[in-house]
Amino acid sequence: MIQDSAAGEPESETTLLEVSGANAYGIRVGRGIRFGAGELLGPDVRRVLIVHQPTLAAAAAELRESLTDRYEVLLAEIPDAEAAKRVEVAAFCWQIMGQADFTRSDAVIGFGGGAATDLAGFVAATWLRGVKLVQIPTTVLGMVDAAIGGKTGINTAEGKNLVGAFYAPVGVLCDLDTLEALPRNDVLAGYAEVVKAGFIWAPEILDNVERDLDGSTDPHSPVFRRNVELAIDMKAKVVSEDFREAGLREILNYGHTLGHAIEHTERYQWRHGAAVSVGMVFAAELARLSGRLHDDVVDRHRSILTSLTLPITYPAGRWETLLATMRRDKKTRGNTLRFIVLDDIARPTIMQAPDPSLLFAAYQEIGS
Ligand code: GLY
Repeated sequence: MIQDSAAGEPESETTLLEVSGANAYGIRVGRGIRFGAGELLGPDVRRVLIVHQPTLAAAAAELRESLTDRYEVLLAEIPDAEAAKRVEVAAFCWQIMGQADFTRSDAVIGFGGGAATDLAGFVAATWLRGVKLVQIPTTVLGMVDAAIGGKTGINTAEGKNLVGAFYAPVGVLCDLDTLEALPRNDVLAGYAEVVKAGFIWAPEILDNVERDLDGSTDPHSPVFRRNVELAIDMKAKVVSEDFREAGLREILNYGHTLGHAIEHTERYQWRHGAAVSVGMVFAAELARLSGRLHDDVVDRHRSILTSLTLPITYPAGRWETLLATMRRDKKTRGNTLRFIVLDDIARPTIMQAPDPSLLFAAYQEIGS
């Protein structure tokens, strides 16, 4: 459980949040805690593969140094962003592991943004049908979303995340020190997922952003940490209840149905958080136009996302493309479109097969 920040917890302390159930593990939030990765691995591990992006080469070497007294540590430098999530890159990691005689009692550490932890998770899930995995996300998006919940995967020519596995790590280390080097635009884009957690689950996040925008977006600030912890806590509770996305976990797709279609239409040149930001406003309009959601809550979406410099509009005239893309999304069931919408803040629900005229009306509301 998250302690109330008003209790004055010293910044240096580590917060432990937990995923419970059959796939239980801890998610730690703190400073410098990445160097505690070895404590999560247990006594049997002999070899460790650190999978990292090029920008983290020096930090990965430092992490390796901290582990070499106990383990044989190998590094796998993978491409940045989505270019990492290819079968050739997984094969490159498998080759390193094969050549180093990795056994089932060895381990993988995913160190980087969401693409790195997705790929590392997939490699850990598939090597000898599964070896230990520690995730060390280094972006806001990775900390509050990608590295938590056990979704791992790679892309194919036909689409994103079409191949993968649900695979739980033995632990996740959210080391706030790793955010130091993150460009502000990346912090803000990742923050869209924090705001999403505010709308679907934890309204305190929204109050904190409105009360203290600078603190909320400054990785050194206790308010930032509080919001990140609330978002992680939300995700941990949701995946504890529904690891394989059979029910509750679907609420995490708030803003994502249209968001994914925008990302695809924009050939992944838009940041994920920017697309989800527009997607959340669209979902809010959908709920408002169908008489579920009060105007004030829709306005609150626009004002909070705008204050974070996230986009809330999308060019008119692209509806047919977006609609066709949403229908092809792997989460569309039997060609039926499903949207997570709100009845109120923290009251998400599923809207199934909305009337096409309603969808188009919501699109017109976000048109630029
Ligand atoms: N990113 C959504 C999920 O993990 O289910």
